[in-house]
Amino acid sequence: MSTPTEPVTDAYPPSAEFAAQANGGAALYEAAAADREAFWAEQARRLSWDTPWEQVLDWSGAPVAKWFVGGKLNVAVNCVDRHVAAGFGDQVAIHWIGEPGDTRDITYADLLAEVSRAANYFTSLGLVAGDRVAIYLPMVPEAIVAMLACARLGLTHSVVFAGFSPTALRSRVDDARARLVITADGQWRRGKPAGLKSAVDEALAMPGDGELSVEQVLVVRRTGQDVPWTAGRDVWWHETVAEQSPEHTAMGMDAEHPLFILYTSGTTGKPKGIVHTTGGYLTQAAYTHHYVFDHKPGVDVYWCTADIGWVTGHSYIVYGPLANRATQIVYEGTPNYPDEHRHFEIIADRRVSIYYTAPTMVRTFMKWGAEIPAAHDLSSIRLLGSVGEPINPEAWRWYRTNIGGDRAPIVDTWWQTETGAIMMSPLPGLTAAKPGAAMGPLPGIAAQVVDEDGHDLADGDGEAVGYLVLDQPWPAMLRGIWGDPQRYQETYWDRYAEQGWYFAGDGARIDADGAYWVLGRVDDVMNVSGHRISTAEVESALVGHSGVAEAAVVGASDATTGQGIVAFVILTADAADADPATVVQELKAEVSKEISPIARPRDIHIVPELPKTRSGKIMRRLLRDVAEGRELGDTSTLVDPAVFDAIRAQA
Ligand code: WT7
Repeated sequence: MSTPTEPVTDAYPPSAEFAAQANGGAALYEAAAADREAFWAEQARRLSWDTPWEQVLDWSGAPVAKWFVGGKLNVAVNCVDRHVAAGFGDQVAIHWIGEPGDTRDITYADLLAEVSRAANYFTSLGLVAGDRVAIYLPMVPEAIVAMLACARLGLTHSVVFAGFSPTALRSRVDDARARLVITADGQWRRGKPAGLKSAVDEALAMPGDGELSVEQVLVVRRTGQDVPWTAGRDVWWHETVAEQSPEHTAMGMDAEHPLFILYTSGTTGKPKGIVHTTGGYLTQAAYTHHYVFDHKPGVDVYWCTADIGWVTGHSYIVYGPLANRATQIVYEGTPNYPDEHRHFEIIADRRVSIYYTAPTMVRTFMKWGAEIPAAHDLSSIRLLGSVGEPINPEAWRWYRTNIGGDRAPIVDTWWQTETGAIMMSPLPGLTAAKPGAAMGPLPGIAAQVVDEDGHDLADGDGEAVGYLVLDQPWPAMLRGIWGDPQRYQETYWDRYAEQGWYFAGDGARIDADGAYWVLGRVDDVMNVSGHRISTAEVESALVGHSGVAEAAVVGASDATTGQGIVAFVILTADAADADPATVVQELKAEVSKEISPIARPRDIHIVPELPKTRSGKIMRRLLRDVAEGRELGDTSTLVDPAVFDAIRAQA
């Protein structure tokens, strides 16, 4: 967490025209303040319920909330069927664009047929509500179809980012005891097919935790490459799902039925399976998508550039937009294939009006140069969004000028895998947004910036920096960590147990106007290009290498990726004579293979010692100082401050 040094004095209110047509304004805050539960009940009525709820919120089992108690609804019906029934079957739901340039336009009627087929096939496999399904797919339409088909049947999906390693996939499959894995033969990456099914084979063949839970592997044909086949276990999507009836009658699920598990990094090496349920989640995903993005169904062309492997893809590609009958772009590939014009060509071609991406993408565009967006007609853009990490004011202004035509409001949206949906953001038709600030909690959401003891810093005079807490339950909040209620309690609730607040793990600043600035993680979690990676996870991958005796990892600030991973390793006596450059290359490759290329360290320093406190804790703050080339901070609690000179000399 770092405090911005640059003073920000500019603020950007919406234009009068934008404000006049906006979905939400001041009345929304007033309604939420007048009666919070009534406000959320009103939002839940955006959805269609098979059975109405009896109680809006039951917090008696805190910290596990129940929202819309007794209510029943089907998520897939809300995202698909009801739009077809209302006469919008011919509206395009998904303009899908493949990396090699192939395209598919999928209407809501098409989506209904596809989801029904998949649901019929899953049923024929004997899968029943409550079973878990792992989805390990690139950004192909079948990924969205598979998620919705699971939702339709009450199968809890666990989407695993297709960039994750076989080891990471296997640990997630085992933790959730998934019965089915859905994957593809391969995925396109910069014009080349990369294997994916082979990664599943590897994952399922390695020793895991207990007996293998997977019975079937369903494979989408995407690249056409040859794949190894295990008869009896592996089946092709086009030979099974595609053969099913396009009709399927859905049943309402309990509002608290687990919709999905999504794994995210915590402060220990083991990822946490964040559990989200049905009614509250969909309510907040749809509510935020409608107001934060000012979305107009049938008019806007919406594009969220995330991958479905992350929560942003769940809430703002699949559930929120489809519940709101969006027409959206889903792009399979990388932003610089075949060249850096790709995103802007898509925006211009498809007249994209709402564009939601991560600060790291904006900074990459900046690096590529303003002449690239300038070469395209981006006049369709009317709103821009940012998510995943703090956006620096310079990038914010560049985004607004060069992509937003100096007119589009920017919504800087703060939230987390755990919160399920956006928690803090400007309201685009109302807020005078400051570059780099998430501004404040949305209507219906409560947040505070407090000190160690829980004193509200907003009560003081002027600026304050502290910890971000959420002091009221919210509909899309996580309901726990899969299989580990104790870790749920310890990670989020023990810190402010007395007050009963959720500790987000982020530091934040409140300015003199009461605007919130999220500064970043205050725990041992790094944020690299908007991806959350724990220092412990990378350390454990490093010490998995036979040449490493000890490793310490820190996130150092990086001009493009927000943070870069910097590792300090002590080699074993056996490895001490090896060529350092070779060892460093090997270790980088090891981390890519064990976790994912996104976790590959930017720098690895081989050092003779690590700085530790008297109690044996590695002093990461000092390592961060070294990694960022700063003067050393206070070293008085070090066992032997002299070791640090040795480290610095080699770093
Ligand atoms: C962490 C959550 C939310 C979906 C993508 C990431 C950081 C997220 C912002 C923002 C400053 C942000 C926080 C948070 N973060 N959005 N607008 N401004 N920081 O989800 O992987 O669960 O990571 O991302 O540090 O705790 P995630």
